[in-house]
Amino acid sequence: MKRILPDFFGRAKPKKIADVSSGSQPFRLVKYFTFTSFAVILVAAFVLSWGVSNNAKKVLLDRSEAYSELFAENLNRQVFLRFVLPTVIQYGHIALSNEEQFERLDQIVRNVTKGMGIDSVTIFDSEENIISYSTIPDLVGKKDRGGIEYQKALKGENNSFLISSGSLLNLLPGVPPFYCKLRTYIPFRSEEKSGEEEGTIMGVIELVKDLSVDMQAIIELQGRIIVLSLLIMSLLLVVLSSIVMRGDRIIEARAVERRQLEEKLNEAERLASLGKMVAAVSHEIKNPLGIVKSTAEVLGKRISKVAPGNEHLAQIIVDETARLDGIVREFLDFARPRDTRLEPASLNDLVERAAQFMAPELEARAVIFRKELDLNLPLIPLDKEQVYQVLLNMIINAIQSMPEGGTLTIISRQGFPGEIELEVHDTGVGMSPEKMEQIFTPFYTDKHRGSGLGLAIARNIVDKHHGRITVASKEGQGSRFTIIFPGTGE
Ligand SMILES: Nc1ncnc2c1ncn2[C@@H]1O[C@H](COP(=O)(O)OP(=O)(O)OP(=O)(O)O)[C@@H](O)[C@H]1O
Ligand SMILES: [Mg+2]
Repeated sequence: MKRILPDFFGRAKPKKIADVSSGSQPFRLVKYFTFTSFAVILVAAFVLSWGVSNNAKKVLLDRSEAYSELFAENLNRQVFLRFVLPTVIQYGHIALSNEEQFERLDQIVRNVTKGMGIDSVTIFDSEENIISYSTIPDLVGKKDRGGIEYQKALKGENNSFLISSGSLLNLLPGVPPFYCKLRTYIPFRSEEKSGEEEGTIMGVIELVKDLSVDMQAIIELQGRIIVLSLLIMSLLLVVLSSIVMRGDRIIEARAVERRQLEEKLNEAERLASLGKMVAAVSHEIKNPLGIVKSTAEVLGKRISKVAPGNEHLAQIIVDETARLDGIVREFLDFARPRDTRLEPASLNDLVERAAQFMAPELEARAVIFRKELDLNLPLIPLDKEQVYQVLLNMIINAIQSMPEGGTLTIISRQGFPGEIELEVHDTGVGMSPEKMEQIFTPFYTDKHRGSGLGLAIARNIVDKHHGRITVASKEGQGSRFTIIFPGTGE
């Protein structure tokens, strides 16, 4: 029969435990923060790379535009001085349909543009929207090819525009390469003697410069920035995640620790209240019990005279009150433990004394008693009476666990340096792991006449000696209780 005293004082409120588990809340916030910041940084990386490359594009365009205009103006001067003037002097007028004139102009244009990264040069007529000259022979003679830019240049305004196609995707293998061309239009003027270019507009020069390679470099830079940002972000995410996970584990462990502490505290409070109640009740029972016992003893003597043969009735009262008295004393011991007085004593002597006391019982229960005592053990600080009480309880428990008899072994030995061990070993019924977890709980017992306080008191006493008590057991094979005393080192 298992008997654990009912839970008079209530269990720990579940609300408190729920509060504790919410301890990991702040770190969950950190988790959300990690992912949000990752997303923000990712977007920022894209915006940054877009900004940087856009800026680079703008700078490239501005420079190219300025360069093209300058180059076109130089071309204007060269063509005027080296072609227009000599041709007019030689032929009287300019007629590019004349092969010789065309060849001469072509020669000059090609010389000037050579190695300058210019794709093509085209010269439009000023009176008619017709191409008078072009480095692309097919275009010569084509009409209405000049658009708004041509019109603007005719009015004396330099201008240019960009034709481009492609994006980051063009970096992928198999996709056509990036395409980017800058078309610049400037008026083709006659050179005034003063050298200033405010002469008559004779036509429009169109200059095409290929910027594909430079643009490709910028797009590649954009791609590199994105890839690098992604790599850094991923690394950051991995580091942050590992920190968050570690933090989560620590918080969880702390929550469990706190929960256990709280449970222990509740248990201690519960036991303290229980102890007070037990002490009060036991105290009240003790005195009347003493009177019942002594009255029964007197009664026993008188009965032998009045009604001989009935003395055993009085003896039953005496025996049972003695047993009750023992239980009440145990209750009181547990509720109001006596002060511990430590003085150097021999553990072996206590074992001898307990063995002597229990010898008749051991014999009656067919228990073989063996002792393996280390005779060189030093004296250690002990409260002899209390340790004796612990020893007796353990021996009685061992005997009770061997109803069919068995072997009880008590061993004393030097344990780890500075520690002394006392082991009580039986070959009794043993315990299940679940039972082992309960046996030190006050009032836990599976005996009809047990109080369930023996091991609880034993643990209190061992605690006061700054020692510890452990148990190892297997069902059907017996149990091994070990008390470890700190020895003289403490
Ligand atoms: N040597 C042992 N072998 C098997 N079970 C044991 C042994 N010692 C203790 N136990 C188990 O532990 C329980 C608690 O023991 P404890 O000494 O605290 O109380 P008890 O012996 O039941 O009662 P009391 O000691 O107050 O008479 C026992 O009821 C028993 O189930
Ligand atoms: Mg016991």
